[in-house]
Amino acid sequence: MDQVPSSTNQRGSFGSNIGFLLSAIGSAVGLGNIWGFPYKMGKCGGFTFLLIYLALAVFVGFAIMMGELALGRKTGLGPVNAYKAISKKFKWVGWLAVAGGFFVLTFYMVLGGYCIYYVIINLIGIFGGMPDSSSFGAMITNRWLSIGITLLFFVICWAINRGGVAGGIEKFNKIGMPALFVMLVIIIIKALTMPHAAEGLKFMFVPGYATKVTEFGQFVESTPSLLSILATAGGQMFFSLSLGMSAMITYGSYLSKKENLPKNSVIIVFADTLIAILAGVAVIPAAVANGIAQGLSVSEIKLNGPGLLFSTLQDVFHNMGALGGVFGVIFYVLVLIAAISSAISVIEGVAVTFIDRASAKGREPSRTRAITLTCVVLFAFSFLVAVDGLGSNNIAPWQMLGMSEEAIRNWNDCWLDFFDLIAEGILMPLGAMLMSCMIGWELKPKSFEDEIKSGSNGGAMGFWSFCIKFVCPVVMFFIVLVQVSDFFGLGWF
Ligand code: PFF
Repeated sequence: MDQVPSSTNQRGSFGSNIGFLLSAIGSAVGLGNIWGFPYKMGKCGGFTFLLIYLALAVFVGFAIMMGELALGRKTGLGPVNAYKAISKKFKWVGWLAVAGGFFVLTFYMVLGGYCIYYVIINLIGIFGGMPDSSSFGAMITNRWLSIGITLLFFVICWAINRGGVAGGIEKFNKIGMPALFVMLVIIIIKALTMPHAAEGLKFMFVPGYATKVTEFGQFVESTPSLLSILATAGGQMFFSLSLGMSAMITYGSYLSKKENLPKNSVIIVFADTLIAILAGVAVIPAAVANGIAQGLSVSEIKLNGPGLLFSTLQDVFHNMGALGGVFGVIFYVLVLIAAISSAISVIEGVAVTFIDRASAKGREPSRTRAITLTCVVLFAFSFLVAVDGLGSNNIAPWQMLGMSEEAIRNWNDCWLDFFDLIAEGILMPLGAMLMSCMIGWELKPKSFEDEIKSGSNGGAMGFWSFCIKFVCPVVMFFIVLVQVSDFFGLGWF
């Protein structure tokens, strides 16, 4: 290893394997599971999508997950210093992970703020005057409100991260994740007992059903091509597992050498996928059932993105009658926990760079200073996203930068899209691709054998070596192309 900051006790570590697992699952389970997976599954072939997703999760997600955890644990360092410590050619790649994580946070923090607001308005709604879908427009166009709730979300995350790895992150997830699961089950039971809920299940699981009904009310017979299913599933898998955004390398660096990396990686991938499916079973039938009861066809119901979460579903709670507020609170608290547990993992991944740097220079690292600095700089960017209100306030990048309307494609509609392009579109998949190249070809998987075998019988070594060397670089390269095509609206797939 080059000159590297040594891993110090001040960095902290997880108190138990279950604490680590719940935190890593908390990182993976986020807004992506709730508002992306179910819709993409429905639109892209139902079970066919699920099978392809699972195959990608096994051959690519698992391998990169284990690569990131192993890289962190082997070096005992966050991304920037871990790459520096271990590779001559790829020593700069850690910055891609940190920058990717940073840019994804810029808008995630704002969405987290929206979740807080929805918990509050549903809570108030219990006592009368349940909010409906119009709250969404009112919220995003209200700049001061958006800034205020974003700031509140920052303060919550800051407080948890500041509490330390065991004392903050682990503690939050140990309570938050089981609570999330229980709330999810309650919402599923409620959703599935609504009239017309079966239509929602068909949307998700019956191949071709969603394609037929979702194109602007027309029946479109074409089923998505295998390549486009692969492309959609690949992008979703990668984001959903929090790969390439520095969280998993950092969490790996806090994990004891006694623990079993292959087993842990399998559990994280499995749990994330299970919760994505369960979230779909909760959300889609409720949205569809309510839409049909309002006289809409399935094609007219918004089932994707922020619109699903903050508009369609709020109408569901609005129309539920007396108990709507109670279910609304349960649901938005669930989403809020998912958002917090994801955000704190990436804040940690960014802030650990400062902590490692301080110890490298022989100074006592200050966690509070590192977390505060990260949050303050981040807030300057999130501020733009909050004020922009998903493009509703006319300060999109192209408008501020004086670009022509020609330049607007998906990526430039609003600040959220712009930052998402930088993070999810480029930095994150590129970083993960380069990581698999580094482990597979520069360092060779064998050099991680001790790490993989520490705490396990090493049975996964052969499979992992094969995937990280041959499968991951190719698939990740494909995902980079998919993301670029998607974000720039190039229609390659
Ligand atoms: N795995 C997370 C999700 O599915 O929502 C992705 C994520 C995004 C994690 C942003 C953390 C974060 F700050």
